[in-house]
Amino acid sequence: MPWDLIKMNSGHSIPSIGFGTWTLGNGQSPIDQVEQALDNGYNHIDTAQAYRNEGETGTALKESGLARSDVFVTTKYSGTNGLDIPTSIDNSLNSLGVSYVDLYLIHSPRLAVPDIPTAWAKMEKVKEDGKAKSIGVSNFDAKDLEILINSAKIKPAVNQILLHPYVYQQQLPILNFAAQHNIVIEAYSALIPITKQPGGPLDAPLNEIATKFGATPDQILLAWTKAKGAVVVTTSSKKARLQGYLAAGDIELSKDDIAAIDAAGALGEKRMHAKITLRKLAIGALVGAAALGACSYFNLSLF
Ligand SMILES: NC(=O)c1ccc[n+]([C@@H]2O[C@H](COP(=O)([O-])OP(=O)(O)OC[C@H]3O[C@@H](n4cnc5c(N)ncnc54)[C@H](OP(=O)(O)O)[C@@H]3O)[C@@H](O)[C@H]2O)c1
Repeated sequence: MPWDLIKMNSGHSIPSIGFGTWTLGNGQSPIDQVEQALDNGYNHIDTAQAYRNEGETGTALKESGLARSDVFVTTKYSGTNGLDIPTSIDNSLNSLGVSYVDLYLIHSPRLAVPDIPTAWAKMEKVKEDGKAKSIGVSNFDAKDLEILINSAKIKPAVNQILLHPYVYQQQLPILNFAAQHNIVIEAYSALIPITKQPGGPLDAPLNEIATKFGATPDQILLAWTKAKGAVVVTTSSKKARLQGYLAAGDIELSKDDIAAIDAAGALGEKRMHAKITLRKLAIGALVGAAALGACSYFNLSLF
């Protein structure tokens, strides 16, 4: 099995590739797309209150005819409609048509209100009540996780974060913290370097490595994410791509391949930071010039 199960600190295991419903919208289309993923061998569905298609996901799960225990279902507390965690999990279970989820996450640290320890205690109750087999977080940085762990009875099983080569360096502190505390990292938006940020330093090594393996650049990005030990959460509306993602589990990148991707990612990250700094400086200079202009217009002295 190329995409193996990964054992979490809760004692349960998570399939190392998941199909996400964030961009699927509403109506028949997300039902068809989730069914397509299940038909093609995906057994891990990642949804959230905020995606507003837990109902469609539930319909697809039911129509698939699969047993509840055959599919790993994740949903997230997104603070939708200002509802609290106990109400939200009940609503999610209802929409999904299940009596428990395999994994329940706090979607973002800003939703942990009034503070992280109080919100986490509510998550622990969700697990204690049997409504989630495992509980975790999403988009938490090392500082947020440290606050959580200092008050927790139950450690978070996972942290679902943005992870691709152009953010790898900035995510290293949270990756290291998670490794130290036996928290599984789930990586979302792993394909951004080709879908949203093409034309960067990664293009050349990705294409070269893809040619070597007779694969596509998106498969190489997924193989890189797997090599970093993370669970991949991805999506596609296309059957061929879904099958390609699954086949990417068989790609074993060499140390040199990984080093080449890391180096190109770091270079891209550096360039992006430089661009942001330059933009901030330019905005600062423009504001300064406007202020000077205004002072001179109104005959004001700055000194
Ligand atoms: N926790 C969070 O805050 C958070 C945030 C974002 C996402 N997520 C989760 O992660 C899941 C995946 O997120 P994502 O959509 O950003 O992931 P992604 O894996 O980076 O991107 C998947 C998208 O890439 C497109 N794609 C794949 N290969 C392509 C190629 N060669 N050329 C052009 N487009 C290509 C697919 O489009 P096609 O349909 O055309 O194949 C699909 O829409 C979400 O559904 C959600 O479950 C969680």
